[in-house]
Amino acid sequence: MTDSMTQTPLTATGQLGCAEEHPGFSDPLYRRRRDAIVALAVGHAVGAPSPHISYSGAEHATWRSVHSSLTGAWQGRVCRAVEEARGRAPIPDDHVPQHAEVGDRLYELTGFRFTLAGGIVPNERFLGAMAEGYFHAVQYVRHPRLPLYTPEPDVLHDVFGHGTHLADPGFADLYRAVGRAAARVSSPDALDLISRVYWFSLEYGVVRESGVPKACGAALLSSYGELRRFQQADIRPWDISDLVTCPYPVAGYQPVLFSTDSTDHLADALHGFLDDFDEDTRDRLRLPPLAARGFMGRPAD
Ligand SMILES: [Fe+2]
Repeated sequence: MTDSMTQTPLTATGQLGCAEEHPGFSDPLYRRRRDAIVALAVGHAVGAPSPHISYSGAEHATWRSVHSSLTGAWQGRVCRAVEEARGRAPIPDDHVPQHAEVGDRLYELTGFRFTLAGGIVPNERFLGAMAEGYFHAVQYVRHPRLPLYTPEPDVLHDVFGHGTHLADPGFADLYRAVGRAAARVSSPDALDLISRVYWFSLEYGVVRESGVPKACGAALLSSYGELRRFQQADIRPWDISDLVTCPYPVAGYQPVLFSTDSTDHLADALHGFLDDFDEDTRDRLRLPPLAARGFMGRPAD
């Protein structure tokens, strides 16, 4: 599952993320539908309203099915701050929402809205927009054949997973911190470094509560399969040096995760790293070269 984790943006003709692994790769009807929605994002300006999508009955059914499964899988597996955010998040359980339907309410709560993405978004745009209160989100729905896992971000991941975070002022503040750091730099290396910290925190972060690892990151929160197995991953204490040298798959279940002792600890760690982040941060902190990324992990069950 990916957000900003590649420098290759999708085009209107749309690669299907990790194509051969995608459950929709061999389904021409799905590809046509997905490509038509992706095409709407071409040339879209950050902050412009997202188009209205007339979702089909089958797409609404996929949303309901995944929403229901995730609600059950969350029980006992997510951290308290996320549970509290979920109580405020305006996310429907019975239909695929339009971006504005959720985003307008998020804006009232934390100043964040969704802005349209067609798929993978380059780091500079994806991360930088967070400084202005915009989170890039797609509109297509995952393939119904594998509804409980998606190898690429879909509307469920973006709106359910990140939308939950963005209903909470504390999490929203962390997204802004990521955005402000990204807005201060321009080199691919510096942006890549921020994206890795983002990946292991707001996408895949784990918080220990009474010694038990609980899901915090949006990718965990929006994946039934990851929620069922993340506690068996190699969960290491938060450490920037370890984190940046840790290879990770951009699709498939994550073999290594990083945990903090609380969401306050997570906030301190992120602010401590991001608030004075600049082009010299890696040298100043004597961080080792970034690990390779992009290998395929163990596929979803
Ligand atoms: Fe994401």
